[in-house]
Amino acid sequence: MLGPLVAAIDQGTSSTRFLVFNAKTAELLSHHQVEIKQSFPKEGWVEEDPKEILQSVYECMDRTCEKMTQLNIDISNIKAVGVTNQRETTLVWDKETGEPLYNAIVWLDLRTQSTVERLINKTPGRNKNHLKTGLPISTYFSAVKLRWLMDNVEKVHEAVLSHRAMFGTVDSWLIWSLTGGKKGGVHCTDVTNASRTMLFNIHTMDWDPELCKYFDIPMEILPKVRSSSEIYGLMVSCLGDQSAALVGQMCFKDGQAKNTYGTGCFLHIPVMSDHGLLTTVAYKLGRDKPACYALEGSVAIAGAVVPWLKNNLGIIQTSTELEQLAADVGTSYGCYFVPAFSGLYAPYWEPSARGIICGLTQFTNRSHLAFAALEAVCFQTREILDAMNQDSGIHLSQLQVDGGMTSNRLLMQLQADILCIPVVKPSMPETTALGAAMAAGAAEGVSVWSLNPEDLTEVTSEKFEPQINPEGKGI
Ligand code: G3P
Repeated sequence: MLGPLVAAIDQGTSSTRFLVFNAKTAELLSHHQVEIKQSFPKEGWVEEDPKEILQSVYECMDRTCEKMTQLNIDISNIKAVGVTNQRETTLVWDKETGEPLYNAIVWLDLRTQSTVERLINKTPGRNKNHLKTGLPISTYFSAVKLRWLMDNVEKVHEAVLSHRAMFGTVDSWLIWSLTGGKKGGVHCTDVTNASRTMLFNIHTMDWDPELCKYFDIPMEILPKVRSSSEIYGLMVSCLGDQSAALVGQMCFKDGQAKNTYGTGCFLHIPVMSDHGLLTTVAYKLGRDKPACYALEGSVAIAGAVVPWLKNNLGIIQTSTELEQLAADVGTSYGCYFVPAFSGLYAPYWEPSARGIICGLTQFTNRSHLAFAALEAVCFQTREILDAMNQDSGIHLSQLQVDGGMTSNRLLMQLQADILCIPVVKPSMPETTALGAAMAAGAAEGVSVWSLNPEDLTEVTSEKFEPQINPEGKGI
């Protein structure tokens, strides 16, 4: 007898997944994954098709249920489905037709760079807005993308004027569509996703009228903000993917930190920032539960270097080749790679920065470049951790990691070496989905999962110990 099951839709930048877990043991029972196409219509622009995103969710759910039936697992035991998603990616749709009015503008998109520069010049430094949102003004967040849509897409402009427009990040689009769409879908988001828009006040925990006025966004198009763990129509729970990973890693205690290596990479620790890091809402696990905050160090390009090396440079045929290619030489031979394809995020917040590769000699070959790409991910994480140490005064004794790139063991060892602390990777890699499933299973009215730290089973993990000391010498 398996007992209750809990599922999660994990809609990331590069792919969508549906995963089903045993609510008692957290064992992953079945899943399916579908890649998502990104389009780059102009330099710096990144878009995805909202209908393809929705379709991928249906496909993943159908295929996972088929696999479960083949395994003789009764799908009616699924008691709750949670959503976790790429954050900040911005959509507007027509509530009467249910049609998206433009492609989704992906979080990495740089089209709003000139708007951002203008706004920064108008309100430099850590201004009142920053204090309310916890965020610097940047192309990264949704408000400027939404402003662009309202100013540049006639259909969006008209829908706003005729009160038919609905704005949402990917979570809102999915929840609205899956709970009935134009026939009465629930238009909501959760506090973690709302806190990535630049329109949400992280102190009052609601949309901020002054911020909406500043960006000239009508409040009626915004979704209702809910906690991360409650029933919204047919769906239960919703968290931005980085928050879900924090829950899935059970990072509930002071002094813990996690780093998720996805398309970008995102390091979280619970505290407010004075060194260019973001303060974000980590989670609010229930309507009457307190909100928890985290300091976030965001890196725009981490895992995204892999498809770039494959598709743009052609130095690998498959993603898995990268580790062996880099391991063949075990050094970058003085070559450095800064993959600032979408500007630089924390701690610089410089949208005009672009990538460079330097230190090339006649001796440099594709293996050195592969090694430099892996080092680039680790060096960016080191910069974030240094800023976090300055902000929080906490010197971490280890870093918990998750995300697709953690299957690269060379990367994990390099990360431990470059941070000079152990790196700990859970043996079950689907931490983001697990976090969303846990939040769904723990929601009031579902309650098949406990989120009491004492009741949670310790996950088995693998530890990578640093093999060099802080002076760079072998141990
Ligand atoms: O803020 C963007 C983030 O949520 C995207 O995550 O996993 O697609 O890199 P990922």
